[in-house]
Amino acid sequence: MASVVFDTVCKSYGSRATVHDVSLEIEDKEFMVLVGPSGCGKSTTLRMLAGLEDITSGRLLIGGQDMTQTAPQNRDIAMVFQSYALYPHMTAHRNMAFGLMKTTRLPKEEINARISEVAGILNITDLLDRRPKEMSGGERQRVAIGRALVRQPKVLLFDEPLSNLDAKLRNRMRGELKRLHQELDLTIVYVTHDQIEAMTLGTRIAMMSEGRLQQVGAPMDIYLNPSNTFVATFIGSPEMGLMPCRHEQDGVLAHASFTEGLRIGPSDIPRSVILGIRPEEVSFTAGAGMARGQVVRAELIGAEALVEVALGPDLITVRSTVADAPLAGNEVALDFDLSRARLFHGETGQAIKL
Ligand SMILES: Nc1ncnc2c1ncn2[C@@H]1O[C@H](COP(=O)(O)OP(=O)(O)O)[C@@H](O)[C@H]1O
Ligand SMILES: [Mg+2]
Repeated sequence: MASVVFDTVCKSYGSRATVHDVSLEIEDKEFMVLVGPSGCGKSTTLRMLAGLEDITSGRLLIGGQDMTQTAPQNRDIAMVFQSYALYPHMTAHRNMAFGLMKTTRLPKEEINARISEVAGILNITDLLDRRPKEMSGGERQRVAIGRALVRQPKVLLFDEPLSNLDAKLRNRMRGELKRLHQELDLTIVYVTHDQIEAMTLGTRIAMMSEGRLQQVGAPMDIYLNPSNTFVATFIGSPEMGLMPCRHEQDGVLAHASFTEGLRIGPSDIPRSVILGIRPEEVSFTAGAGMARGQVVRAELIGAEALVEVALGPDLITVRSTVADAPLAGNEVALDFDLSRARLFHGETGQAIKL
């Protein structure tokens, strides 16, 4: 088992910087999720940890040891890829044994014992004689994970491992990965562009954008207190509503939709701020309400309704019960849960401490 430390790690391809000054401490046995939009540098960061890409500058520590220059096979790391990368002509058993036979001098009995144990954990004992083309996507995924586990790595890396599975299977595999982490006490670093995967799997999340870390924290902490408007709108679905407001004075904000000024911040906030409000922090009211708007669209999705409301120039989503959901075109009055409201700097988008 091992901790992982990225110390001001940078990656450039030629003159193009792809990953900027990433400093991140991953604790022993943590499930750390690197999340961000496509192209933001997640895979590059993971591949530097695996030793599949050189680190342009900065240091990488695994288990407290400097591994910046260490060859991949000497890092005690195993990686599971989105494509599974199984050998098509080999059985599951052979796929799992092959790497161990190539890179270690383990006796055959030990290799077989490890495969049996891991197969038991992953429920793939019955598949061991099959080749990849005789397995479903989810089964191949398990064999790929099994192949990584038999190496008994200190750190297990995943790069978008569920992207090729259908929604139902993805859901089930999420649960299994979580169970696996709890059972095996492994340090896991997991890359995904899917914020739901990040929220449900991570003990902590590291959110990336354009090659930079934006925020690192426990999922609910990031959800409730995003550090900037980028994180605020990336995490959470439907996304957080953002309403640019004018700070009049003494923390009182004005917006085209407000029935009167709303006191939200302290008096020293900037002139121009953005109010961030999540769909579950707004409710329809029969009274005058804090704001008035017009319903653009109401989606009834079984147990609840998601209602898009135009508030002056801005659009927010309200999560309501199906019974309370107004129809498209209706004028509505709304109340905000101001105890949960957050403000961002109008120009920089950075969160303002309230
Ligand atoms: N081998 C490479 N040579 C040049 N540019 C690369 C290479 N690999 C990745 N990149 C670029 O680095 C950026 C980050 O890529 P990547 O780490 O794969 O992003 P993500 O995994 O978040 O989608 C992208 O703009 C990509 O085009
Ligand atoms: Mg990637």
